[in-house]
Amino acid sequence: MTHQCSEKQSSEQLGSEQQGLAQQDLVKSLFVQQFASAAELVCHAPGRVNLIGDHTDYNDGFVFPAAINFGTTIAAAKREDAVVNVYAHDCDQQSNEFNLSEVAFDSQMMWSNYVKGTLLALMKTYPEIKGANLVVTGNVPQGAGLSSSASFEIAILKTFAELYQLDLDGIKAALMGQKAENNFVGCNCGIMDQLISAMGQKNHAMLLDCKDLSFEDAPIPSNLALFIVNSNVKRGLVDSEYNLRREQCEQVAQHFGKSALREVSIEQLNAAKEQLEPVLFRRARHVISENARAVATLTALKNNDIASISVAMKESHNSLRDDFQVTTKEMDGLVEIIDGVIGNAGGVRMTGGGFGGCVVALVPRAMVEELTDVVNTAYPQQFGLEPSIYLCTATQGAFR
Ligand code: GLA
Repeated sequence: MTHQCSEKQSSEQLGSEQQGLAQQDLVKSLFVQQFASAAELVCHAPGRVNLIGDHTDYNDGFVFPAAINFGTTIAAAKREDAVVNVYAHDCDQQSNEFNLSEVAFDSQMMWSNYVKGTLLALMKTYPEIKGANLVVTGNVPQGAGLSSSASFEIAILKTFAELYQLDLDGIKAALMGQKAENNFVGCNCGIMDQLISAMGQKNHAMLLDCKDLSFEDAPIPSNLALFIVNSNVKRGLVDSEYNLRREQCEQVAQHFGKSALREVSIEQLNAAKEQLEPVLFRRARHVISENARAVATLTALKNNDIASISVAMKESHNSLRDDFQVTTKEMDGLVEIIDGVIGNAGGVRMTGGGFGGCVVALVPRAMVEELTDVVNTAYPQQFGLEPSIYLCTATQGAFR
């Protein structure tokens, strides 16, 4: 879920279009340094922010993410043999070399497992691919809940699809990225992060039905800014707690004889309250109510109905805090601080897997300056931590 290498970026370094171009130039010149020849191509895949619908994807539910202008960029060239040689500029400038015929998990260099797992998944469909020389850099803050890993996986898949002219589409690529995490890295994540990184649409968020992977793009109103704040709380126990939440959801689905919580209604759940352990009841209540909020947000966004979005985001945060229990006091505090400024003129909630990381807000552009000042003052006062603020735009996915 996070590819665990050191973070060097500051918030000022992140995000702008210029930075995107700078990243391209950087990987190209690093490629020449590393491999003494020019790269054949450069590929990029974005990270994401989820507007609403968290911990629903692995329950066959609904999510509402947008791809953002932070991502992973790779310069690459084909090789004649089956060797993959990766230089990861942001991971302590480490290099990793392996042969596609004998791919093994590396517990020392965790980041390399995202490349390995992804290529193993790719080779199931395209066994004919050969190796490559790769230089990777990224500006998605790691461990912040903005999907640095998914953007890495999708960037790798896009790179190999281009190098070897594969007829790979974004949905298949997303499923391969997810498989890499589930079967190789060891995180039982859902499909949201990879799918939006592959299929996001510029200036739009996407309501994605994780049951059949159908989706609808929804324009983000131009009067609203995508305001993301990193609590800068180091995330701990993320994968184990995440996997536990997923098991708990599956237990409740099983109780009802269903394949996923998507198939259980709130009425059915309420009627079975006495038969379920209280904690399992609460987990399921979050998922079922969150699905309804995600779907309702599509209509609200289309109608520029900010007041309804505001309510839905608030309820979502409270549900993730109280029923699903994946927030931290710092994330709750940030939400309160932001809510205190924007009220029902915008919306705010935690975003992503939780246990630290970011909150996302939809903020009227006219309020951005004031909000920035308040967050920069109040958050350190209350929690002794500096926030990082990312003013984002919604960008195009790698396969769109
Ligand atoms: C992580 C996972 C996603 C999703 C979110 C929570 O980002 O990778 O699949 O489950 O958490 O919504």
